Amino acid sequence: MFLYDSPDYSTSSPVLDTTQLSQPIETLVEKIYQEFRPQVGLKSIRPHDPIEVQHIPTPWQLLGTGNYAAVFAHPEYLDLVVKIYAPGRPGFEDEVEVYRRIGSHPAFSQCFYARDNFLILKRLHGVTLYNCLHRGLRIPKQVILDIDRALDYARSRGLRPHDVHGKNVMMREGQGVVVDISDFLREGSGAAWDDLKKFYYWIYRPFLSPLRIRIPLSLLDVSRGVYRCLRMLLKRKA
Ligand SMILES: Nc1ncnc2c1ncn2[C@@H]1O[C@H](COP(=O)(O)OP(=O)(O)OP(=O)(O)O)[C@@H](O)[C@H]1O
Ligand SMILES: [Mg+2]
Repeated sequence: MFLYDSPDYSTSSPVLDTTQLSQPIETLVEKIYQEFRPQVGLKSIRPHDPIEVQHIPTPWQLLGTGNYAAVFAHPEYLDLVVKIYAPGRPGFEDEVEVYRRIGSHPAFSQCFYARDNFLILKRLHGVTLYNCLHRGLRIPKQVILDIDRALDYARSRGLRPHDVHGKNVMMREGQGVVVDISDFLREGSGAAWDDLKKFYYWIYRPFLSPLRIRIPLSLLDVSRGVYRCLRMLLKRKA
């Protein structure tokens, strides 16, 4: 199967080896078109807030939302997720191109199929750093080092790591992985990741980590908003 099963993408795209998957991807694609897409309810209320999921068809499970898309898993496909863009939200084509350039790398997901505003991606089992703070899970330094290395790899593929914030990176068995690379074609300074690292080394490691503090979601979200305003005031791109 072509990585991107669409006339626009298929000619320039490599064929990915889907035989490593425990279930044939074609049956998942069928389920998406027949059961999932007609029923799932997605809405983008404000562009700077995560999209709202109004209905999740059984037996699908919501794994997370971003400002552009929502990500779901089906219980019969343990190693895959479906990322579906909310109506009217841009970025699908760029994300497809970014996955084409990333190919297969242990610190990133992988794209097996992309069409009609949804992508089938390798599932990354882990906890976002945002949720680590919320759950009081200790984040070892190795996670930060792994993500730095992964971003270097992305740069070597002609990409510009961008918008690398706490919900876009994960800790998996003490290692760091990058869960969302959709913005890696856009112009940007990479300041979000630099700022996250400053927070990690100056605040998290000396003060928060030893205390194992659980930070409430409301406080994390307020900090996110304040951070975004400061960035806009200082006219820095993420
Ligand atoms: N491959 C994956 N495996 C497991 N969970 C994932 C995967 N991709 C995304 N998620 C979960 O879904 C959430 C939303 O996905 P993602 O960040 O890709 O959406 P987005 O709309 O592009 O986000 P942003 O607002 O950062 O641009 C992530 O924070 C993560 O919790
Ligand atoms: Mg994201």
